[in-house]
Amino acid sequence: MEKHSFELNYKSYGSEAELNEQDAELLSMAREVAKKAYAPYSGFSVGSAVLLANGQIVTGNNQENAAYPSGICAERVAMFYASSQFPGVKALKVAVTAFSNRVPVSAPVAPCGSCRQVLSEYEKLYGHDIELILQGDQGVIYVLDNVRTLLPMAFTSDDLG
Ligand code: THU
Repeated sequence: MEKHSFELNYKSYGSEAELNEQDAELLSMAREVAKKAYAPYSGFSVGSAVLLANGQIVTGNNQENAAYPSGICAERVAMFYASSQFPGVKALKVAVTAFSNRVPVSAPVAPCGSCRQVLSEYEKLYGHDIELILQGDQGVIYVLDNVRTLLPMAFTSDDLG
């Protein structure tokens, strides 16, 4: 028997004032687009901004549905839109923020499992790390250097042969 482990490293910042200008701008765009989310069922509005290698920034928000599972997260709306408009262009950074009409969102919002899977697909496809910049409705920000470490032992195209 052998034991194995994974390690997750991330940086935390007290507020956007501590971020570099580019990351602060991405987060601010994510915050703006969260205001346009369609989230009548959860009251939890999420915004995401994707910085591409060509300098374009693509934003998206969560889109819910009366048939709950038909809704989709902000990260996938933004990432799929980026890939559909700019195929072949690497994603460099993804910012995510959220606010709720019920409770304060004081902890940074981390992408759900399906979004981790989708983001890691593009990270692997382009062979380039995607930095994640995560915040709640204000305050502390987590920055992760890549998606890979957020989804250990992932199912990837390698498994399909
Ligand atoms: N949601 C996102 O858009 N991104 C996340 O990272 C977490 C959750 C959305 C899905 C749903 O519309 C609402 O937030 C509550 O789960």
